Amino acid sequence: MRLATPSGFATEVILVEHPDRALLPEGAWTLVGDLRLRDAWTRAGLPEPSHALWVAVPEEEKKLRTVVPWLEHWARVPLHRDVTVVALGGGVMTDLTGLAASLYLRGVAWQVWPTTLLAMADAALGGKTGADLAAGKNLVGTFHPPRRLVACTSFLEGLPLRHMENGRWELVKTALIQGAMGWAMEMLQEGPVKIAWVERALAFKAGVVHRDPREAGERRLLNLGHTLGHALEAASGYQLLHGEAVGLGLLGSCLLAEEQGLKPFPPALLDLLARRLAPLAPLVAAWGDCLPLLARDKKAKQASGHTEDAPATEIHCILPRPGEPAIQRVLPSQAWESPHAKLQLLLHRENVRA
Ligand SMILES: NC(=O)c1ccc[n+]([C@@H]2O[C@H](COP(=O)([O-])OP(=O)(O)OC[C@H]3O[C@@H](n4cnc5c(N)ncnc54)[C@H](O)[C@@H]3O)[C@@H](O)[C@H]2O)c1
Repeated sequence: MRLATPSGFATEVILVEHPDRALLPEGAWTLVGDLRLRDAWTRAGLPEPSHALWVAVPEEEKKLRTVVPWLEHWARVPLHRDVTVVALGGGVMTDLTGLAASLYLRGVAWQVWPTTLLAMADAALGGKTGADLAAGKNLVGTFHPPRRLVACTSFLEGLPLRHMENGRWELVKTALIQGAMGWAMEMLQEGPVKIAWVERALAFKAGVVHRDPREAGERRLLNLGHTLGHALEAASGYQLLHGEAVGLGLLGSCLLAEEQGLKPFPPALLDLLARRLAPLAPLVAAWGDCLPLLARDKKAKQASGHTEDAPATEIHCILPRPGEPAIQRVLPSQAWESPHAKLQLLLHRENVRA
């Protein structure tokens, strides 16, 4: 099924159950694929181009040094400007392959075939590519939208449950950005993820990205849950998966929004969030470990009038509201201290109850 996207949108978005070779590029193409998917790719009867790279890249290796050998390989073949690179895998593979495609010969075309729920629902759409630096996640990257996104749900069959649940959080994020409490609560119930939710999330993201491709304004809303989320993810030594950290960040953002005097959330929603997140409680770092990481957020800036010894940081925060779209506010990083404490308390309460 071809998703309706805004006219002139850079990426054709296709959601299908089974992969179809007719969706692969027509001219010269190559592939960078997650080794875990190689059998599934072959079993699906999909062709393998002669210079394909099958690799295993853990989150810790989402680094520039990982893509350099790919670029060298393409240059040795050599692949020319007319090549299309197909990226197959989760968000790590799609971010890195997109980055390599944007760098090779100053940019060649690419297609993205996401194979995790998180990548299907979020990472593969929007043209952001990236790699991590020692100082933090995704600190280097480009905007280079793929020509086509092909999400084949049959690839999800082998995805471990923890990674399925990890992707669910980016869907819940979309509902909270829209203020769609009913949809958020539906997705927080026990039960399998529905493809219709992925469609809805992709359609929403396509609209936002089309209106604000470079994240100058509206697109920042997509970072809901990511400010605290990124800090918790890094402070856990990446024991928390990206989506899980975003989930914790979402609950934290609801609590922060209430503290900022915005409309309170239905208690049932906060309870559902806390119940689903409670098993992650042991991975939630102490406030003292989160604060320096919040200050390092990509969107943070040093507030004026403070010394180097005691820097105060202002952070761009996204605050959700029930029934209405989320809003953006710049707040001191310390504003997260109390929501962080409440978050820990809510998770603890759920764990005692269980
Ligand atoms: N570019 C963006 O806009 C954007 C948005 C959100 C997240 N991201 C990035 O996405 C990354 C996280 O992506 P992720 O959650 O997909 O993790 P991931 O890419 O690490 O994949 C998770 C694990 O699942 C395996 N895997 C992938 N597909 C599989 C399948 N079908 N069956 C079995 N195993 C499979 C992978 O080998 C890996 O071990 C982060 O680096 C994050 O920064 C990018």
